Amino acid sequence: MNVLLLGFGSVGRAFCNLLKEQEFSLKELLPAGVEVKVVGIGTKTRGCLFSRDGLPLKQILDFESKTGKLTGMDSLYAYPYDSESLVSEGDYDLLVECTTSSMSSRGGVARLIKIALDRGKTVVTCNSAVVYNHYFELKELSEQKGASFIFDSAVIAGVPLFSFMKHCLPCAKVVSCYGVINGTSNYVLEMMEEGSTLDEAIMEAVRKGCAEKDPLLDIEGTDSAVKASIIAQVLMGASFHALEEISIEGIRNVTPEMFRKAKKEGARVKLVAKIQKVLGSVQISVRPEVVPSDNPVSRLRGASKGVIMTTDIAGEVYLASDGFGPRQVGYGLLRDVLEYISGKIKT
Ligand code: HSE
Repeated sequence: MNVLLLGFGSVGRAFCNLLKEQEFSLKELLPAGVEVKVVGIGTKTRGCLFSRDGLPLKQILDFESKTGKLTGMDSLYAYPYDSESLVSEGDYDLLVECTTSSMSSRGGVARLIKIALDRGKTVVTCNSAVVYNHYFELKELSEQKGASFIFDSAVIAGVPLFSFMKHCLPCAKVVSCYGVINGTSNYVLEMMEEGSTLDEAIMEAVRKGCAEKDPLLDIEGTDSAVKASIIAQVLMGASFHALEEISIEGIRNVTPEMFRKAKKEGARVKLVAKIQKVLGSVQISVRPEVVPSDNPVSRLRGASKGVIMTTDIAGEVYLASDGFGPRQVGYGLLRDVLEYISGKIKT
């Protein structure tokens, strides 16, 4: 399985590190003769590499950590054109996309994903902005071309939510989803609960590596709203919700008084995303709430995320993960690639 990797930031590097680290497990796991081989790496400003026989990942990771770029690596692997040429002309089976996601992204990398799908290549992405903005067209295109469009690490990277609902709870329809789908806000709220100011807590979340490039997207609820909208589109048949159509309140106005009151009741303050079917439409909201102690969402610590999925025939299912950061997302990408290879994911 020849992989073209688009993006070589912390997630792309984590994906490559995992491929090296798990070499022996992968050999045991994959059918005889099948291997996951990165044949190309495309970046926007740091150069592109390609080799039909597979790239030397360790050498590339070492070179990148010293120089911050890919250009200048062994000329044997240099690809003289840009990422778009690599996607549209390169010889590969699967595109793994992990470029920096931007909430307002409506073009750019989505166009490259379309080019790959149009060529019948399967795409695995962790880019929530792309899935949020383009889910329907990318899904339709992948179906037309007999490719797969896989994005389980774009929402709660530590839990394969979409794959789980599809394959482990077949036929069950999601009626509502309730929970924390942004780890940074959970981490910040916990620090504030313990006495830190909002700014101190944000700085710590940035240092810890769970926050978005612009941490206000976490704090103001935008990241939660984007991910809630993806859940609504993918699992609940909702149409695209523009951010203005979603009731969003971040954690900026959570007061010490709110924490004190919650503590008295044994409850916790959480930034809760709610997605509900109401009279045939799907409603989404994101706001801070006092979550009682008998609700598992109240027990989410640190940068954890967790959701209660209420279904029509399988009742309530709680899915949670305390994983966060590039390694977790890189693992999510690898997990999706392996699921695809094992034939568990179809269009
Ligand atoms: N900033 C996100 C979070 C990272 O805190 O959950 C994953 O997209």
